[in-house]
Amino acid sequence: MTEAPLIRMRGITKRFPGVTALNGVDFDLLPGEIHALVGENGSGKSTLVKCLYGFVEPDEGVIEVNGVPAAIDSAHRARQLGIVAITQELTLASTLTVAENILMGRLPRGKLGIDWGKVRRQAREALDQTGAEIDENAIVGDLSVELQQEVEIARAISAQSPVLVLDEATSSLSEAATERLMTKLEQLRSQGVAVIFISHRLREVFQCASRATVLRDGQVVATFDLAGVTESDLVAKMVGRRMEDLYGKRPIPKGKVVLSIRNLSTASGTVRDASLEVHEGEILGIAGLVGSGKIELGMAIYGAIPPAARC
Ligand SMILES: Nc1ncnc2c1ncn2[C@@H]1O[C@H](COP(=O)(O)OP(=O)(O)OP(=O)(O)O)[C@@H](O)[C@H]1O
Ligand SMILES: [Mg+2]
Repeated sequence: MTEAPLIRMRGITKRFPGVTALNGVDFDLLPGEIHALVGENGSGKSTLVKCLYGFVEPDEGVIEVNGVPAAIDSAHRARQLGIVAITQELTLASTLTVAENILMGRLPRGKLGIDWGKVRRQAREALDQTGAEIDENAIVGDLSVELQQEVEIARAISAQSPVLVLDEATSSLSEAATERLMTKLEQLRSQGVAVIFISHRLREVFQCASRATVLRDGQVVATFDLAGVTESDLVAKMVGRRMEDLYGKRPIPKGKVVLSIRNLSTASGTVRDASLEVHEGEILGIAGLVGSGKIELGMAIYGAIPPAARC
């Protein structure tokens, strides 16, 4: 039995000056599924979901929501149709409180105007639902980017929309916050919510999604169940060839040391006793979670921030 899709997109084409971002894309979203949208940078993932949540109007094609053709010409219209997005770009009002942001556009009213007690209670519930330990009375602008992203998530989830779009929503989250989001998504999915999940982190894609649609140069390459598919199969579909062919291992001799850093610390204490060496012909990656100090280390290396005095 095939279920009727909640969202049906047919022949979606979008051109920007000099580039066809989407070229006749077909995409279905079923109730209660987490459907990943994957593809290389610039393959059209964000443009496709922007057509759904009212940020981009397609030049051609049809979008049906619950079997009814819909013209989604604004985020407001998308919300009316039950489509809410969480993106990388923060959309919060930085001078307002967390509670005001979460309930923006739907502040509960009492006899004497806005019921602020209720605003705070409902915001608290929304934050607790997603496990975010954030004070609902805090001013958003005082929060770190990661916590602001968690407020975005709480706001979107508390809207109880049947369709949730996540476009790189985890990119600024810590591992713990990402795990909490994954658990919440699974819970929403089991309640029938349909999710479009975009992330460059394929581990997350395999963790939460059951199906994936691969885009390449604005076209759908394939849509398939993720069960039984490996990460390298998926990557091969994304780039159109096996990874081994793309990054064939070539022996490159390491040259002399061109940069040597010994026991570098920064005044803030985020970077402590960092040491590394980079050789000629070498690309050295620096990885770490949000707040681990990788940016500060980079800035200290090229002199944008001074090292701690004792260095
Ligand atoms: N507003 C715009 N104006 C002009 N070109 C755009 C615009 N938005 C997207 N594009 C172009 O359309 C193509 C698809 O971009 P899109 O952002 O949808 O890709 P993406 O798959 O989301 O990439 P990424 O993984 O980097 O987020 C790219 O070539 C991009 O440069
Ligand atoms: Mg994108």
